[in-house]
Amino acid sequence: MKKLLDLISEEVTKAFVECGYDEKYGKVTLSNRPDLCEYQCNGAMAAAKEYKCAPFMISDKIAEILSGNAMFSMVESVKPGFLNLKLDGAYLASYLNDMQADAGRFGCDKPENPKTIMVDYGGANVAKPLHVGHLRSAIIGESIKRIGKFIGHEMIGDVHLGDWGLQMGLVITELKLRKPELVYFDESFEGEYPEEAPFTISELEEIYPTASGKSKTDEAYKEAALAATNELQQGRRGYRALLAHILAVSVTDLKKNYDNLNVSFELWKGESDAQPYIPDMVQKLKDGGFAYESEGALVVDVKEETDTKEIPPCIILKSDGASLYSTTDLATLVMRMEDYNPEGIIYITDKRQELHFNQVFRCAKKTGIVKPETELTHIGFGTMNGKDGKPFKTRDGGVMRLEYLIQEIYEEMLKKITENQKSKEDLDISTEEAEKIARTVALAAIKYGDLSNQASKDYIFDIDRFTSFEGNTGPYILYTIVRIKSILGKYEATGKSVSDCLGVMEAAHNDHEKDLMLSLSRFNAVVENAYEEVAPHKICAYIYELANAFNGFYHGTKILSEADENVQKSYIGLLSLTKSVLETCIDMLGFEAPERM
Ligand code: ARG
Repeated sequence: MKKLLDLISEEVTKAFVECGYDEKYGKVTLSNRPDLCEYQCNGAMAAAKEYKCAPFMISDKIAEILSGNAMFSMVESVKPGFLNLKLDGAYLASYLNDMQADAGRFGCDKPENPKTIMVDYGGANVAKPLHVGHLRSAIIGESIKRIGKFIGHEMIGDVHLGDWGLQMGLVITELKLRKPELVYFDESFEGEYPEEAPFTISELEEIYPTASGKSKTDEAYKEAALAATNELQQGRRGYRALLAHILAVSVTDLKKNYDNLNVSFELWKGESDAQPYIPDMVQKLKDGGFAYESEGALVVDVKEETDTKEIPPCIILKSDGASLYSTTDLATLVMRMEDYNPEGIIYITDKRQELHFNQVFRCAKKTGIVKPETELTHIGFGTMNGKDGKPFKTRDGGVMRLEYLIQEIYEEMLKKITENQKSKEDLDISTEEAEKIARTVALAAIKYGDLSNQASKDYIFDIDRFTSFEGNTGPYILYTIVRIKSILGKYEATGKSVSDCLGVMEAAHNDHEKDLMLSLSRFNAVVENAYEEVAPHKICAYIYELANAFNGFYHGTKILSEADENVQKSYIGLLSLTKSVLETCIDMLGFEAPERM
């Protein structure tokens, strides 16, 4: 379906052309004075300069032409030359009926040429516990992927595990110290390694921090870890086998964690998967004359004339021949182009990695690793801070682990849901159900709290605010959906059927209802814009507006006691569409609503 704003612009443009003015002046926008009108066109102001007359002479003429137009209930020319517009109620209702008939898409057309787009998010580091820093990448990436999927593109999420660094050498070193008898350390061993890992996930989670701590105070230990990392990277058999175990054990655990967050990946690749591509890539960079030696290291220049600040060369190999984070990311691009040939790749990491991605993207473009038209995008997010404005910590000052954070929000939610239930006698929820609801709502609280901010901004993780049922929060949105579900349920309990109410919306019966209808009509434009700008926060802003519009309507209108059956059907149809649009939006944000709360 065409966007409503485009339909209106087309109509106004026709009027401009009919009066002999250029079509470019007919653009209509949402009103910035909702007290006066719903839409506005300021084209006459600009046209007046070209046609050398007073703006209102133009806006008057346009208003006259449009005054008989069935699309509008009001067309006003206002001095000095604005056009104020209100949409006809029946026209709006018919647009919404069309939306409702467009089941599942609600007016959002699929692209003619769907693209293949990879989303690189999550980025957990194997053997290290997930902490809140990984939370944002997972939440934002999942939403970006879902928005693209809804639009109709092929979106491929890749977790891109950090499985190739010093942490692997540390784990191996510590393991060797504890269990030197393990066959993995016997260099003369040529048989098959055991299938079972020589550690559990809880052991692994303890081994890494212990090893990391030791390496900071014990120089010899650190040397050993570096050597082990190097041997692993050179392909020592026993260490490769250990890496496979570390990966398998961690991935099982990570999947569980991501599952709890309603986050899932199409690909579970890691940095290690890119390593085989490095030698060939380095050779090509040399042969192509892109890479040269500088202070012993192999580098590619990536600065550009228009740079206002110094962009250092992209380092491909260190002077000892070791590869770096950038090498791995370039090799990953080689792999991704070979395997999927995507039109775009979106990376979601902390914004402190901005320079890294800038260098990698430039290097990949310049050297032909990706095509000139391959769109590489880095979404850098800000820090999640505590109420004190400092990076989020536990009460005793340690790095907050993801499970604890989720647990804390969950407990707060359970408390609120139990209280809420006490105040409503008709809600009789078992403890089991309350716990399940609390999990659902807690996830919404966390995700909405994060996604409602522009990603690049730092934000304050405020448990009290995020878990509130009022204001711009996840629970408020869910509460609104649950409220609609409850009304629809009561309607059906009287023996009537909601499905008989679809597609029968009438012109709005009051202003609140019209506000709600206008909000709903913007769905396709909002989703498209959120996709183009890679901006889930635009979906949050939209559903907050929509939920407010709904609640305004709900408080001012008797729905279940409406005597006129057709009016009531129209209301129920409108509620059903509101529910569908809200549910579709929260699905794009990566959470869902309970049946009741
Ligand atoms: N593992 C990295 C980290 O924790 C994030 C990986 C991001 N993706 C990438 N292709 N570099 O910082």
